Amino acid sequence: MEFNVKSGSPEKQRSACIVVGVFEPRRLSAIAEQLDEISEGYISNLLRRGDLEGKSGQMLLLHHVPNILSERVLLVGCGKERELDERQYRQIISKTISTLNETGSMEAVCFLSELHVKGRDTYWKVRQAVEATQDCLYNFHGLKTRKVEARRPLRKMVFNVPTRRELPLGERAISHALAVSEGITTCKNVANMPPNICNPAYLAEQAKILEHDYDNVSTEIVGEKEMEALGMSSYLAVGRGSRNESIMSVIKYNGAAADVNPIVLVGKGVTFDSGGISLKPGEAMDEMKYDMGGAAGVLGAMHALAELQLPINVIGVLAGCENMPGGDAYRPGDILTTMSGQTVEVLNTDAEGRLVLCDALTYVERFDPELVIDVATLTGACVVALGKHASGLLSTHNPLAHELLNASEQSGDRAWRLPLWEEYQEQLESPFADFTNLGGKGAGTITAACFLARFTKKYHWAHLDIAGTAWRGGKEKGSTGRPVSLLTQFLLNRAGAEQSE
Ligand code: BES
Ligand code: MN
Ligand code: ZN
Repeated sequence: MEFNVKSGSPEKQRSACIVVGVFEPRRLSAIAEQLDEISEGYISNLLRRGDLEGKSGQMLLLHHVPNILSERVLLVGCGKERELDERQYRQIISKTISTLNETGSMEAVCFLSELHVKGRDTYWKVRQAVEATQDCLYNFHGLKTRKVEARRPLRKMVFNVPTRRELPLGERAISHALAVSEGITTCKNVANMPPNICNPAYLAEQAKILEHDYDNVSTEIVGEKEMEALGMSSYLAVGRGSRNESIMSVIKYNGAAADVNPIVLVGKGVTFDSGGISLKPGEAMDEMKYDMGGAAGVLGAMHALAELQLPINVIGVLAGCENMPGGDAYRPGDILTTMSGQTVEVLNTDAEGRLVLCDALTYVERFDPELVIDVATLTGACVVALGKHASGLLSTHNPLAHELLNASEQSGDRAWRLPLWEEYQEQLESPFADFTNLGGKGAGTITAACFLARFTKKYHWAHLDIAGTAWRGGKEKGSTGRPVSLLTQFLLNRAGAEQSE
C-alpha cells in the first residue's frame, strides 16, 4: 500500500475516486461544497432528494459527476459536524477504506483528513488515517489453501492537507504511521498464528528475524538450561507440563550511547494456556493461543521502533512458554522458589502468567533499566472490569503511569488506571510460603499486579493487562495489534520525536 499527502483542490484531481465528507443533516463539508459548485449543484441535488442524510458512516458512491475529472466521488457521512471526535474520525476512515477496497477504486484522494477534529492537528489526522487504513486492509489468510483476494484492491491513498505548509507534517505522519503499522502487522501475524506453530521457539525465531533485518538489533535466547542456572524455577514450573521448551527471547535495540539506561518491555508469551492441571473449561479455549499477546505486542513495538530508528535504548523480552497438563506438570499445592528468592504457593496452575513474568521481571534487573513495562493477557477479571475497550494500567510510579495514559490518549489505544494500594496485598497471604499466586475473591486484576509488584521494587515499573484488548473473539476473531500503538507512542514521546508544528 502506498501513501501520499497532497495539498490541492478537489476539482483538479484526476483520480479513480475522490472522497469528501457530508455532515448531518445533509450539509456539505467545505470541500464537498467546492465539488458541488463545479458540478452545478449535482451533489446538493442528490442530498435534497434524500439520497444521503450524512449520518456517520453512511456512504454514497457517485460516477461521472458533471465537470469532475475523477472517475468517482465517494460521499461519506460524518455525523453532526460539532460531534466529530477522534473515535468517529477513525471509524469514518475505516468505513471509507473498506468501501473503496470493495468497489474497485485502486487509488483515491481523500479529503476527510481536512475535517475539523476537536483538538487534533494535521499530523494526528494523517497519522490516524494511515494507521486505520493499514488496520482495515489486514487479513490473516496465509493458512487458507484457497486465496480470497479483492478483484481490484486498493493500492494507493492520497490524503489531502489544507495548506502546502502542512505537507512536511503530513509526510512525517505517514512515515510514523507506516512504522507503527508494520509493528502492528507483526504483532497480529504472530498472535494469530495457531499454537501448534507458534510455540516459544517460534517466538524466538521472530526475534531473530528482527536481529537479521536491523543492524542495531541483537538478540539473546535464554533456554531451559540457562533458566535453570539462573534459578528461574517459577518460570520453568509453568512450562514443565509441555513438550515445548520454555524460551525467553531478549531483543536489544541500540539507538543511543551504550551508557544510556534502557527502557525494558516484558511480554507474557504463553503460547497456549490450557490452565494446566487446573484445566480451563472447553468453551473458546482455542482463544488461549492469544495468551502470548503481550509478547506479540512487545515484538511489534520493537519492530516499529527499529523502523523509526529512535535515539533511545530499548530491550524487549518475550517470555515464552506453554501451560499444559501432563505427568511432569506443576500442581496446585506446589511451592516454588522464584529467581528473587521469594517463595510462592501455587493455588491454581491457571494463574501462570504471573509465575512466568515474576522471574522475567527479576531477570531484567541486570540491565539497570530506566523503567520497565510488562504487557500481559493476565486476568479474565480485567475483561470484566474494562471490557474490550481499555487495557488495564497499574503502576507503582505515578509519573510513568501518566506518561502511559498520555500516550494512550494520543494513540487512541486506550488504557485506564486501576489502583495498586497496599491493602490488596493481604489477599495473597499464604500459610506455607511467602505468598500465593491466587488473590481470591475480588479485584483479580489488581491482586495479579500486586503479585508482580513484589518483583519490581528495584526500578520504575508499570503493568498493562491486555486480556480484553489484545484480540477479538467471535465472528471477527483476530488479534487487534494492541498495545503496539500505545507502546510505540510512549517510545516516540520518550525519544522526543517531533509530532506537530
Ligand atoms: N490467560 C489467562 C487470563 C485470561 C483469561 C485472559 C480469559 C483473557 C481471557 C490467565 O492465565 C488466567 O487464566 N487467569 C486466571 C487467573 C485466576 C486463576 C486467578 C483468570 O483470569 O481466570
Ligand atoms: Mn491461565
Ligand atoms: Zn494465561
